[in-house]
Amino acid sequence: MKPVEIAPAQGKLGILLVGLGAVSTTFIAGVLAVRKGLATPIGSLTQMGTIRLGKRTEGRSPRIADLFPLAKLDDVVFGGWDIFKENTYEAAKTAGVLESPLLEQIRPELEAINPWPAVFDQRYVKRLDGPNVKKGKNKKDLAEQLIADIRKFKSDHNLDRMVMIWCGSTEVFLKEGPVHQSIEAFERGLEASDDAIPSSMIYAYAAIREGIPYANAAPNLSGDVPALVELAAQTKSPLAGKDLKTGQTLIKTIIAPGLKARLLGVEGWYSTNILGNRDGEVLDDPESFKTKEESKKSVLDYILQPHLYPELYSDLHHVVRINYYPPRGDNKEGWDNIDLVGWLGYKMQLKVNFLCRDSILAAPIVLDVALFLDLAKRSGLFGIQEWLSFYFKSPQHAAALYPEHDLFIQLMKLKNTLRYLLGEELITHLGREYYD
Ligand SMILES: NC(=O)c1ccc[n+]([C@@H]2O[C@H](COP(=O)([O-])OP(=O)(O)OC[C@H]3O[C@@H](n4cnc5c(N)ncnc54)[C@H](O)[C@@H]3O)[C@@H](O)[C@H]2O)c1
Repeated sequence: MKPVEIAPAQGKLGILLVGLGAVSTTFIAGVLAVRKGLATPIGSLTQMGTIRLGKRTEGRSPRIADLFPLAKLDDVVFGGWDIFKENTYEAAKTAGVLESPLLEQIRPELEAINPWPAVFDQRYVKRLDGPNVKKGKNKKDLAEQLIADIRKFKSDHNLDRMVMIWCGSTEVFLKEGPVHQSIEAFERGLEASDDAIPSSMIYAYAAIREGIPYANAAPNLSGDVPALVELAAQTKSPLAGKDLKTGQTLIKTIIAPGLKARLLGVEGWYSTNILGNRDGEVLDDPESFKTKEESKKSVLDYILQPHLYPELYSDLHHVVRINYYPPRGDNKEGWDNIDLVGWLGYKMQLKVNFLCRDSILAAPIVLDVALFLDLAKRSGLFGIQEWLSFYFKSPQHAAALYPEHDLFIQLMKLKNTLRYLLGEELITHLGREYYD
């Protein structure tokens, strides 16, 4: 196979973050801390992962960071929008994820990142309201204002390239409608301030129109509509989403493929969470929760494939709850009770209690998504980047396909895509050659 031509990572990469909340500030602070040698980027495949190349006998497992022309952390510049005026240091304090001794060491860099006024409409995030919001004559005008922010950021920091990631709150549940079906319909909808275009779609449109890779860390539709996929093909923008796969769903997509691999039946899977951060507060609104619930619930159906294994999985009761519980802040606690069925119908139970830290799990994967999207753009890849499904609860996928949720298949797909970019042999794990 011939390697794909990848443009070098020359100059600076601007990472545009929509929403400077818990995830974004933990991500930015983490990158700054790693850059200063104060911390290790644990959880990031681009920074710590390796990739096997060739046969098992060749012993070639270089670090991904050494092999690919990824943007260096020293070359990254952050910019972003929020409805609150707090700078990134103050926002990190509000989020309460990272402790003061670390924040103080990077305080000046954090204080220098001030959010630009946001495109925001409370109809789409009912539990929030803030003062740092743009005014515009219609949604088209708001999109143009975002594009002006993006261009100014580029010229102020002399950036070579940019990526944008929605790390804003989860918006209310919306279904794809006529306005999302083509670029023309979408642009008419922007002019008419169509209700079916929430704030996150205006940001996605602005990024994609500028040819900037766009990812969605939340479950709302945002860039996942035909009009924006069509625009991404025109402007050669890579797309990824939706909803970062971090706490409970990460564990679910690790355990479920194992149970299915051993043909163990599952009668019920009860998942509940307590969460006390702003995200938890937003998700306390039933309409935002519905968007999250759809995203969290779909994974088991796709992984367990009840249509192929009706005796094992067709009666599965899957329940997902999130309860807002302020004392826990960002330290989410998730409980899973799984009712299993084994040989001859004998029942078993598996209990999982994950005391996790939401944003600590999310930050490294925001970094990976940003750097891989930039790599995709420089490699000439555009549109939906299914190989980044590894990072998402509701992977964006082509209309004719079902999404792949199994973490191990997702990882194989990601690594095979990296091998493909290098022109290296894809690894099928057949391995007959070792025994011939
Ligand atoms: N932390 C995780 O593990 C995780 C996992 C998957 C998905 N997510 C999603 O990522 C998103 C961010 O999570 P978080 O914990 O940082 O939440 P957060 O509430 O701390 O931060 C969200 C920020 O977005 C801002 N915001 C909302 N609408 C905006 C708009 N239109 N423009 C600009 N800013 C806007 C809010 O003011 C807030 O500061 C949420 O949607 C969450 O559901 C988080």
